[in-house]
Amino acid sequence: MNNTDLVFQSYGRCCRNDEFFVDFYNFFMSSSDAIRNRFENTDMGAQRHLLRNGVMQIILVARGMSDRKLKDLGESHNRHNHNIQPEWYDLWEDSLLKTVRTHDPEYTPALREAWREVLKPGIDLIRGAY
Ligand code: HEM
Repeated sequence: MNNTDLVFQSYGRCCRNDEFFVDFYNFFMSSSDAIRNRFENTDMGAQRHLLRNGVMQIILVARGMSDRKLKDLGESHNRHNHNIQPEWYDLWEDSLLKTVRTHDPEYTPALREAWREVLKPGIDLIRGAY
């Protein structure tokens, strides 16, 4: 199995439990006050659903699907819109990997590396649109 298959299946196991997204935002918002402040007026229930889809988009793009939706996310997160600082994406990735470690019963260090590799192009695209 290649990395995108491993990650696709791992994400499937993670998504079985909605707490995955609760834990992700808890980790992510604890990583910096600046990040917590960004979600002060956000409906977190809706945000968790949006993120569920956003992570799936990143995985699908790594599997060869069109990156049109990620380009839209790049635009919404850029300096003119949500104004998400490029350095915050490392905290986003760390929080996601920590959440996968907590939730995927089949987690291994090799699976972590597969996740990192699969996330990279999508994160680079969104961050790069700053
Ligand atoms: C909104 C995904 C990174 C902060 C959203 C939305 C999605 C999303 C799907 C909703 C649609 C939209 O507004 O365009 C992602 C993905 C990321 C990422 C896949 C990583 C590659 C970040 C980072 C931050 C952030 C690093 C830093 C704080 C926000 C904020 C909103 C948002 C503030 C708007 C919330 C609101 O409507 O109140 N993100 N995001 N995102 N994201 Fe991200």
